Amino acid sequence: MPLIAATWSFARDGCAEAVKPLLAGGSALDAVCAVAGAAERDPRVDSVGYGGLPDATGRVTLDACVMVSPGKCGAVCAVARHLAATDLARMVMERTRHVMLAGSGADEFATALGMPECDLLAPEARAAWERWRIGDASVRQADPGRDFGVPLAPEVGERRFDHDTIGALALDASGSLAGACSTAGMAYKLAGRVGDSPIPGHGLYVDPEVGGAVATGVGEIVMGVCGTFLAVESMRRGASPQDAIAEVLGRIDHQFTLEAHQQVGLIVVTRDGRLSSGAIRPGFAVTVADGAGVRVEPPQFVLYPEWTGAAG
Ligand code: GLY
Repeated sequence: MPLIAATWSFARDGCAEAVKPLLAGGSALDAVCAVAGAAERDPRVDSVGYGGLPDATGRVTLDACVMVSPGKCGAVCAVARHLAATDLARMVMERTRHVMLAGSGADEFATALGMPECDLLAPEARAAWERWRIGDASVRQADPGRDFGVPLAPEVGERRFDHDTIGALALDASGSLAGACSTAGMAYKLAGRVGDSPIPGHGLYVDPEVGGAVATGVGEIVMGVCGTFLAVESMRRGASPQDAIAEVLGRIDHQFTLEAHQQVGLIVVTRDGRLSSGAIRPGFAVTVADGAGVRVEPPQFVLYPEWTGAAG
């Protein structure tokens, strides 16, 4: 029964490592933190952790959230001096009376815990930002949807888009669910912008009585419909995982005038291990790891399958 489901193919290495202790009886919370932490440390992932693209002023800021139940979650946003944003969110959950710490307060909390400080701006991200600043059209623009970066999963035809978030859900052998998500946010965002990822009910929601949901893509769209909360509530009312995904994407479609380059991807896992995924447009990929191995799959449901062309 233990399984991990995570956003994008760049979760593959982290899932391959994290699933081993999970299958040996490890906790779902340890597994999702390991998956998110691996992406944070991977400089090839230009939307999460070190290597993440900066805001418009050239500053990288990180947002992250962990959740095991409505009464047990932790988050940080606008972290500027510490890489391990997911571990820090877990520390907020486990060591404070609060749910979220922001900005300098989050960094000071990390320093007080002895977490190492670092410069989050990788040389490649700095170079991309410098080209963006002078209007080089070959780099990804703040306008979401430009293809950019290392092609990480050609076998599933994945195309990567702005705001890619590492989001992971896991179920362990004891039946406990946990979720984590971590992001550097929108590339070249306005300084101070925070998206859906660190906010329970938006980028991540877990209710052990029902299941969990995690989102990636344009945070402003997910936030407009409380995307992951809506998915879990839909399942609470009896919807299947796939119908829950379809309800969220349908609500997004109803509330927003979507453009063909915009992307939101969702994964849900029920408390008994049923999994589904969906996205607004083709290109989203889901990494699944369980006793049968690690695999990268396209989502089960795509709202606009015809929106396949070059983005942006
Ligand atoms: N989904 C991540 C963000 O929009 O910041």
